[in-house]
Amino acid sequence: MFVLLITVKRKSFLTTAALLAVAGSRAEIRNRIAEIPAAADDEQYWSALRASLFPIENGRIFLNNGTMGITPYPVLASLQKGFEHAASKGAYPGHTEDLQKAIAELIGCDADEIAITKNVSEGINHACWGIPLSKGDEVLMTTHEHAGGCIAWLHRANLDGIVIRTFPLGKTAEETLANLKKAVTKKTKVIAIPHIPCTIGQILPVQEICDFAKSSNIITALDGAHPLGMIRFNVHEIGCDYYSGCLHKWALAPLGLGYFYIKKSMLNKTRCTHVAAYSSNEFNMANTPPTGGTLVENAHRFYYGTFCGPLFEAGLEALKLYKKIGPERIETRVRSLATYLQESLMALGDKIIMFTPTEAKSRGAQVAFRINNGNPKASSEFVTSLYSKKITLRYVGENNVDCIRVSTHYYNNREEIDTLVAEVKKAIG
Ligand SMILES: Cc1ncc(COP(=O)(O)O)c(C=O)c1O
Repeated sequence: MFVLLITVKRKSFLTTAALLAVAGSRAEIRNRIAEIPAAADDEQYWSALRASLFPIENGRIFLNNGTMGITPYPVLASLQKGFEHAASKGAYPGHTEDLQKAIAELIGCDADEIAITKNVSEGINHACWGIPLSKGDEVLMTTHEHAGGCIAWLHRANLDGIVIRTFPLGKTAEETLANLKKAVTKKTKVIAIPHIPCTIGQILPVQEICDFAKSSNIITALDGAHPLGMIRFNVHEIGCDYYSGCLHKWALAPLGLGYFYIKKSMLNKTRCTHVAAYSSNEFNMANTPPTGGTLVENAHRFYYGTFCGPLFEAGLEALKLYKKIGPERIETRVRSLATYLQESLMALGDKIIMFTPTEAKSRGAQVAFRINNGNPKASSEFVTSLYSKKITLRYVGENNVDCIRVSTHYYNNREEIDTLVAEVKKAIG
């Protein structure tokens, strides 16, 4: 114990360079580097993190974190350990609230307001089918929704006759808010929009939108696929009623983990359409008539049945790593890479159409642009051609957006961005 304490104390005096000099093995760097008080722009620090934490192959430039994150070694190790434990001991996963607690702490709510889901779409469905709505009631959305954000609502429109209305995003937060207000009618019952749309990655002024919604008696259901792990936010401060997110993008957990936040005061106003073990405290089919108890008084009623224990543990490991490196440091890093990319692309002139706003508060760690060289397929062809050069981007064709989306996580660097920009330069001719 004494030795351990001394080791921990000494660690804080190490700089990145000193650590790299003394710590040879990847595992040793991995175990210690997250605790170094490096600046967010210390390239040596980030490149050591990349080399020690991420299995991504050398020479691959992965700029599609908005689709899925690269799972770090400690998270993979936790996953493997968990599955091996279950298989070797015949151990069914025991229930803990650890993952809900970790998510709640990061997004600013109570653990009993969080249900674990398998993805964002599941949370969107909980809100969509749970809010009591009648034929003719309106739901306001953006023209930039992801399939997972809008198909549930569109389906409910078909089944129940609710009406989906849309509004365009603005170039600034103020313009977006004004566009939204203009689209609200007396029949608007729900605003169901992304915090950060998947298309062009701009950060919407969700707090102002929720303030406005509250004052107009409108329910808010946010699609939070992207923010966790990229930017810091607090759902209680935002004031939304529902928030559906995931851990397998910016938070770097393995695929298949999401969460659904439901504000405490909405719990008993929300219909719970899918229930099973853990949703209700008791049941007894031997009673006449059979009894089912009542639903538990927390968000757990929305997540039920056998769950993937090893995946939950790995998710927890990913969140621990996020906290260890530091949400603020990560946010500064990923935003600064995206700004560098945006400025480099805009310097190429009018053959680039920039979609992501340049307003600082509206941009995060994603940059979306179109190649404007006379070829209507230039952007999609560019993404395909770069994939064969081991550069992974996302082409956004949905909602007629037609753009290239680039996501910058902390394992990316300026050199990779320069390589991408050089390719864009060649493509625009
Ligand atoms: C903004 C947004 N909403 C919803 C989704 C759907 O997420 P999932 O497939 O995890 O349900 C995505 C996925 O990329 C997304 O970007």
